[in-house]
Amino acid sequence: MNILAELRARVATALVEVAGAEQGVAELAAMVLPSQDAKFGEYQANCAMPLGKRLGKPPREVAAALVEKLNVADLCETPEIAGPGFINLRLKDAFVTAKLQAALPDVDRIGIAPVAAPRTYVVDYSSPNVAKPMHVGHIRSTVIGDALCSVLKFVGHRTISDNHIGDWGTQFGMIIYGWKHFGDEAAFKKTPVPELTRLYRLVNSLVEYHAVRDEALPAAATKVGEQESRVSQLELAPTPADPAEQKKHAKRISQAQGQLADLRREYKELEAKITEFEADTKQKALANAHPTIGQAVLAETAALHAGDATNRALWERFLPPCLAEIEETYKRLGVTFDYALGESFYEGDLAGVVADLKAKGLAKPSDGAMCVFLPGQEAPFLVQKKDGAFLYATTDLATIAYRMREWKPDAMLYVVDHRQSFHFDSLFATARLWGIENVEFQHISFGTVLGDDGKPFKTRSGSSVGLSGLLDEAVERALAIVSANDDARPEPMLSIDERQIVAERVGIGAIKYADLAHNRTSDYKFSYDKMLAMTGNTAAYMQYSYARVSSIFGKGGVDPNQLRASGARISVDHPAERALGVAILQFSEALDRVVGDYRPNYLTDYLYELAGKYSSFFENCPVLKAENDDLRTSRLLLCDLTSRTLARGLDLLGIEVVERM
Ligand code: ARG
Repeated sequence: MNILAELRARVATALVEVAGAEQGVAELAAMVLPSQDAKFGEYQANCAMPLGKRLGKPPREVAAALVEKLNVADLCETPEIAGPGFINLRLKDAFVTAKLQAALPDVDRIGIAPVAAPRTYVVDYSSPNVAKPMHVGHIRSTVIGDALCSVLKFVGHRTISDNHIGDWGTQFGMIIYGWKHFGDEAAFKKTPVPELTRLYRLVNSLVEYHAVRDEALPAAATKVGEQESRVSQLELAPTPADPAEQKKHAKRISQAQGQLADLRREYKELEAKITEFEADTKQKALANAHPTIGQAVLAETAALHAGDATNRALWERFLPPCLAEIEETYKRLGVTFDYALGESFYEGDLAGVVADLKAKGLAKPSDGAMCVFLPGQEAPFLVQKKDGAFLYATTDLATIAYRMREWKPDAMLYVVDHRQSFHFDSLFATARLWGIENVEFQHISFGTVLGDDGKPFKTRSGSSVGLSGLLDEAVERALAIVSANDDARPEPMLSIDERQIVAERVGIGAIKYADLAHNRTSDYKFSYDKMLAMTGNTAAYMQYSYARVSSIFGKGGVDPNQLRASGARISVDHPAERALGVAILQFSEALDRVVGDYRPNYLTDYLYELAGKYSSFFENCPVLKAENDDLRTSRLLLCDLTSRTLARGLDLLGIEVVERM
């Protein structure tokens, strides 16, 4: 049961009576919140102040009227009014214990009933572009998407996870070009993915070199030249006599000079890139031997799309090892998908999509390309290029149509980097114009993972290990920490094998938890030290908390299953017991908050708080040495509920626990 939601519903009923209208009631009821300090009650309603203002009555008077109408006797003690008109709601002991008691036998769901009206969600996440190195952003998408799917499912919804793999894009043009000119058959046979990665990197660097040398650099030079003449014109112009005009004139000159300095800097930066590249004479010679590589790569991609037999055969040869490689990463992360319909799956639908958009008058020719012009949107949504090629956008439209047809979802969630928000805004707007209705579209965007330098995080450059190297390093470091902690014990308790298992869970858990615990819309700095810390809101701390709670049963020689079945009662007389008990009951609130905002960090926040409540319970309330048997049993039952809630919460986040560490 979501207690907060229940209280809001009750307050809403009272509000309608007091305000005499339904209007605005939902916003006012939303002002019932968990309170900061449970001393006066676990929840607080702050709606009497704005309602008083609206009704022109003193807020305390309004609060009194609300309390009179409020029917919460089954849940709360008599509400108290404090300060200017806060209504404090304190849960009844009997309510808390009854709810905890009811959660006891419900081993898996801990008393949380599935939603009454399940919805169907398609969740599009991970979706890397294969054949080029997967980056940390794809881990973040994978981890957030997987957690959201698990929570949605647990809450009672139907989910369909779909990995929209980029298996049809320009990167294949690069690899095909690379293969034809620089491919190494023996290397591919031995280690296919590193060979493809080498080709991708090589071709990509040559394409970039030419783009800078042949286009960006001359363009920058032109800009510098234009600005230089603007500055000298201004400098040569006669100085105005009027002092005020004189000032303005001087300002204009200095502004223009500032702009010139910026443009010169941009030019220098590009020039430095070229110099650096050319310093490697072999590389330079190679680039000169492939002067039109940019167009050639596009042509290879176009040929693949047009059904060219050679390119098709190469694609069919290259794709399987790429898929096997990402599958390894998923295995390591413990992530699976219901579907992995890559971009190539929609290949046959694309022409039809554009034709239909055209027939409906939505797509119009512009400069030889086909565009959808969206009201209020500056740039059009490009669905077919001048050369006839279809785009990422076209595939995404075909994908939406397919999903609607096959799965009839109520919502489609796209867990993708915030840099694609313009794409998704345009995509959703186009889909609506195209007639796709009765489905919620959400771009679950997330921020960038940054390195220590504050720039987008890069895996150790030059190495082809990429992501798996990142995971390996986390596990290695976790092993060092776990071993050091264990060695520091008077009697170490973990075998070498056990340490390895714990390290794998702690290391992978650390990376996942860091991705989840940060508010997804903000950027965050990737730091092994921070994510592997044993204190603070980290996976290691949460896993340790779980192990600590669970260890009590072993120490006391108690079987939690027997205890639960014994019909023993839970009491919450001590404030720390009560706080822990209430926190356990609030699991449902945390899950609903995750679903409401598609933000897994609400769940990590909750679990961290629960662990904190457990710590103070543990310090204040002896469990195995409780004063009497009843109290001992009650406290053990609280431990049992805590450990199950922690384990379930972490499981929904995709984080494995260990019994000891
Ligand atoms: N492949 C894309 C990338 O790596 C992400 C795809 C996201 N999903 C989608 N339906 N557009 O940037």
